[in-house]
Amino acid sequence: MSFECALLWGLLIILFSPHTKCDEIPVSAPSVKECHVSVVTYYSDPKVQWARLKRYYSGCTHVMGNLIVSFLEDPSIDYDLSFLENVTYVSGHVAIFANNFPKVVSLPKLQIIRGKETFRTDSYSAGLVIGANSHQQIYMPSLKEISNGDVFIDLESSRDLCYLDTIDWYSIARHGDVKIRPRPESSHEPCPACSRACEVEGRGRRCWGPSDDLCQWPPASADCDDKCDNRCPVNHPEVCCHDQCAIGCTGPTGRDCLACKDYKLWDGTCVYQCPFQPPSSPHGQDCIQG
Ligand SMILES: *[C@@H]1O[C@H](CO)[C@@H](O)[C@H](O)[C@H]1NC(C)=O
Repeated sequence: MSFECALLWGLLIILFSPHTKCDEIPVSAPSVKECHVSVVTYYSDPKVQWARLKRYYSGCTHVMGNLIVSFLEDPSIDYDLSFLENVTYVSGHVAIFANNFPKVVSLPKLQIIRGKETFRTDSYSAGLVIGANSHQQIYMPSLKEISNGDVFIDLESSRDLCYLDTIDWYSIARHGDVKIRPRPESSHEPCPACSRACEVEGRGRRCWGPSDDLCQWPPASADCDDKCDNRCPVNHPEVCCHDQCAIGCTGPTGRDCLACKDYKLWDGTCVYQCPFQPPSSPHGQDCIQG
């Protein structure tokens, strides 16, 4: 990493290190754990940093705020990130940077990065940012939508990181730029190819990792009319999904969404906000009735 780059990452770290509070809300649907995350300081002691990370995000399904995985750099710590296995939704951005460990980062269920709060620098405003790390693979095989913000992946400062440059980010990033800074040609091992099972005619192989279950398939709604902005029901290219739908839909209304961008009413309609305040009224993305 160049000095300039190290300096930039250093600055980002100070600005974006997380401080969070995870609340398990004791009503229905026990499989939902909503975690509220706000931004504060970076902890210079790696053991404290790691303990905080686990405390903030353990078992969360819905992260209301940002998911920031950074400064995993102490060789004496066993960085097991399996406590992130159930994260499906992040309301802000996802940032993975300045880590020496572990080799593989897996967010197997992450479907939607909402990007309500982006990761900002002079050159981008990102929903997903990855850089300056020693990871070899970062799996997000369920990721179907970054509703707002750019994708910035710096492979120049993450030279061991494979596969992410095979992903069709344009099908995921809804309203942002995709910037991938390439690995320097000479100074790294070439990346292994995606599995042959990930081959789609006319578009090559796209994958998150080497195995057959980590293919990136084209979105089900790949053939939508232009007016639909890539979101329409399968086999109905002329019907556009509702604004509040994430990922896709089965019909035109806010009740036909495969997932909601924001919140879901008790009748299944996706809405921008729940009708009842205080803000604790959502449970994950489900509005709590009166
Ligand atoms: C993830 O969800 C499954 C099924 O609800 C549960 O058994 C498991 O303990 C959860 N993992 C974490 C880290 O909370």
